[in-house]
Amino acid sequence: MSEVVPPEDLSSAARLIKEHSGKVLAFTGAGVSAEAGIPTFRGKDGLWNRYRPEELATPRAFESNPKRVWEWYKWRMSIIARAEPTWAHKVMADWERKGVLMGVVTQNVDGLHQRAGSRLVIELHGSIWRTRCTVCGRRFDLGFGNIPEEDLPRCRECGGLLRPDVVWFEEPVPMDQFERAERLFSEAEVILIVGTSGVVMPAALLPINAARQGKILVEVNPEETNLSSLATIRLRGPAGEIFRELARLVEEDLSWR
Ligand code: OAD
Repeated sequence: MSEVVPPEDLSSAARLIKEHSGKVLAFTGAGVSAEAGIPTFRGKDGLWNRYRPEELATPRAFESNPKRVWEWYKWRMSIIARAEPTWAHKVMADWERKGVLMGVVTQNVDGLHQRAGSRLVIELHGSIWRTRCTVCGRRFDLGFGNIPEEDLPRCRECGGLLRPDVVWFEEPVPMDQFERAERLFSEAEVILIVGTSGVVMPAALLPINAARQGKILVEVNPEETNLSSLATIRLRGPAGEIFRELARLVEEDLSWR
């Protein structure tokens, strides 16, 4: 376990999770999958340090060069396809099965929460494992690990150009997903904020509003973030390690239920 995390913070977090069992919600970002080998967006090795989002992740980029955008997405798919869920993904899924965690609201498109066994996963930014037709709007599930072979995949219903069913810059977050997330946040008492820089709107509004409403925020992140000052407890370290330890501490006492 990282020596930087004071053990009393870990036990306070575990105590909160137990006390509020069934009313605990996770809000996750790219950092939860970092230990699985999937690059995050910001920070030293972040994707947006190496690539220009306006050339790869905007509707205009896709219109002007769909092949380049698909190539980049297929490269990311190939990394994700080889990745395994981390301890953080697995513990969240286990806690949901045990009725401790309500579910996960994620900004990630990688599908690792579902692969770990989480059932209630709200994907605010879509899924890299789904395509959408730019002409008829139909959506197609690819299934985890299935990368389209074509340079420019086409809709099997109308022949239109398919795009990754993810949210790009300048695009709105799907309203139905955001409203479902808001409902879950309103029912939750403790929010675990895991591996997100908290700078992308409107997603970051969810924890910000939760803090305004007096909910308890626990942050899991090796770095200080935009949301850190809102958190009651800040667990500084890699999510996988922290969740492994939290699971042990929460489990010790699951017999109390
Ligand atoms: P970011 O890349 O902005 O932030 C990742 C966060 O994870 C940072 O705060 C890191 O400190 C933290 N981190 C790194 N390694 C970690 C580890 N092992 N355990 C825990 N935390 C770790 O990613 P997001 O906040 O998810 O949007 O970014 C939000 C959105 O911006 C993404 O969904 C994507 C991006 O542009 C779209 O594509 C629409």
